[in-house]
Amino acid sequence: MNGEDVAMRVIAIDGPAGSGKSTVAKALANRLGLSYLDTGAMYRAVAFAVLRRGGDPESLDQTSAIAEQLTLEVDNGVVLVDGVDATIEIRGQAVSQAVSTVAANPGVRRELVSRQREWTRERGGGVLEGRDIGTVVFPNAELKIYLTADPAERARRRAKEVTDLDYEEVAADISRRDAVDTGREADPLVEATDAVVVDTTGLTIEAVVDRILGLLDRAQPEPS
Ligand code: CDP
Repeated sequence: MNGEDVAMRVIAIDGPAGSGKSTVAKALANRLGLSYLDTGAMYRAVAFAVLRRGGDPESLDQTSAIAEQLTLEVDNGVVLVDGVDATIEIRGQAVSQAVSTVAANPGVRRELVSRQREWTRERGGGVLEGRDIGTVVFPNAELKIYLTADPAERARRRAKEVTDLDYEEVAADISRRDAVDTGREADPLVEATDAVVVDTTGLTIEAVVDRILGLLDRAQPEPS
């Protein structure tokens, strides 16, 4: 890790789809007065750009070139890809189908990890959520949380959010993405050895956030 990271306050929230990462990370960022970054939206944005240009998500060279050239802004829930508002479309079925293939590409990961570090440095820290924040992007984060939930509950939550999809479709998409994300060679989804695992099954958002804030109090280094 870089020496400059020591001064930054970084909270890493990793975990599979539907585990509650986005809601929890946003609420936590609010409570702590930190910026919030949804890194999944960045991978979705690259998949969106590849599809929009008629590219092949399986092509390693094509896809990483697009990731490198892309103008990408992710802020306050709005995602601009080459100046186009892609906030809604990146959550659609076509992007959800392609995103895990695009995210398994080491060239794409290299580019996005570098942009995520830069985004965080510019803001002096943040709450970042994704799959590899505590393992790769910020291995020295102040606190690493690995959120999980029972697969049926994860699919139920996601099906509620996305109104045009039914439960079976969502469950199938989540389990397919989980398999690709955990099975890929480049930065797979895995619990960091020093992450605190929080199972959100049956817990309210408030309960999860309070639990994390409690952990943070204990993890807080003595002021120097
Ligand atoms: O919101 P949901 O959990 O469904 O997924 P997401 O956070 O929007 O991420 C979409 C996809 O991007 C994941 O299934 C991963 O393939 C990829 N991703 C990743 O590889 N690394 C990250 N740090 C974040 C997302």
